[in-house]
Order: sequence, then structure tokens, then C-alpha cells
Amino acid sequence: MKYFLDSAKIQEIREAYDTFGIDGVTTNPNHIMNSGKPFYTVIGELADFVKEKNIEGWEKFPISVEINPHLDNADEMVEMGTKIASMCKNFVIKIPCTEAGITAAKRLEENGVRTNLTLVFSPTQALIAAKNNSLFVSPFIGWKENSGEDCTQYIQDIVDIYSNYGFYGKTEIICAAVRNGKQITDCAVAGADIVTAALQVFKDSFYHPFTDFGLKKFQDAWDNTVTER
Ligand code: E4P
Repeated sequence: MKYFLDSAKIQEIREAYDTFGIDGVTTNPNHIMNSGKPFYTVIGELADFVKEKNIEGWEKFPISVEINPHLDNADEMVEMGTKIASMCKNFVIKIPCTEAGITAAKRLEENGVRTNLTLVFSPTQALIAAKNNSLFVSPFIGWKENSGEDCTQYIQDIVDIYSNYGFYGKTEIICAAVRNGKQITDCAVAGADIVTAALQVFKDSFYHPFTDFGLKKFQDAWDNTVTER
């Protein structure tokens, strides 16, 4: 399962790439706002980053960039998506799973621009993304679980539906808004292709107190081992 970083902060992306090798990045208007920089400045930094790391192209390191969320007709969505995609070969255009968004994603894919249908909260929304050849679909896990739903079956249903109809691996399932290691595990067990999460979520998922406990025990043993004569 691939790990994408959900962030628009270049220093976080750099850290995650250099330390544990993320496979891609997802951004959204919220992340861009939190970066404290203007939209085109941020995506310019992302374009420079992939050049510097020699990972140009969405096949090597996809970066999802969301269009203006106020756009509500397919023509305008296609126009903005086309403009963003022309700026960097890594950019995958993130579009909301509305009727206009589905139309725009279909047209962008037909024009060779890769898309990520986002704000997906049901298996039927995930199915329409695959039927229209989106590269990615982003079912949100954290938001649903925060409101009390258990998403284990939800992820499994999307994986099963995709497998039933030959979409599995073609439209990749990005489990989004993932908040903890339990959700990462659930996504992996179900067979999701990707999880996207904040840097701290990944860091917390690598931590286990027994690892520290064991390390201390082995350090003590090392220090108390008889020395060579
Ligand atoms: C997914 O691609 C979204 O960017 C993301 O996961 C949204 O959720 P959050 O900002 O609440 O984590």
C-alpha cells in the first residue's frame, strides 16, 4: 500500500520524502491555506520539488491539486484543471464528486489529464469515478469515523466492487483523511491502494512504546556485557 502525504507544506513534504519515502502528495484548499502562501506559489514549489528530486511525472510521484471549490460548472472546472495540469506533469486534478465534477473529470481524462475524484462518501460515488476512468478516487475515512461510522465495511465494499468489474488497480483507491494507525491497518487489510494522511499520523503509526522499552533493555545489556580481555 502506498503512502501519500496530505499536506501543502513543502518542508513537511521534503521531510516525509527524505525520511520514510512517501509515494505522492495530496493537497486541498485547506492545506494550501494552512501553508500561509498563495495557491500558485505553493504549486510552483511542488513543481520545483519534483524537478530537484528527479521524480517528474504523475507515474513517479503524483501530486493532487484541487481546483477552485467555488466552480460549479464543468466547463470552468475543465479550464482550471487543464491550466493546473499544464504547469507540471506530476499534477493530478482533484475534483469534487458532484454532477459537474464527474462530467469535468470524464472530459479531463479524455483529454489526457489525470484526475482524482474527491469528497467521496459512498461506494456508488466511488463506482462512478472508476466508470469514468479517474486515476484516483478519494473516499474520506476520518470524517465518517469522527461522526461515529465504522469504515471497515465501506472500504471493503469499494475494493470488492472495483474487483468485481475490473477497476481494481486502474482507478486507485486513496483512503483519505486517515487519522491513526488503526485506520491505516484497516485500509491495508481491505486492500486499498493508498492512504493519505498528515505527517504526524504516519509518525505516530511508526511508534510503539515496547520498541523504546526493548531498546533500553538491549542498551543495558550492551553496557553490562563482559569486555574483551
Ligand atoms: C484528501 O485527499 C484530503 O486532502 C484530506 O484527507 C481531507 O481531510 P482532512 O484535511 O480533514 O484531513
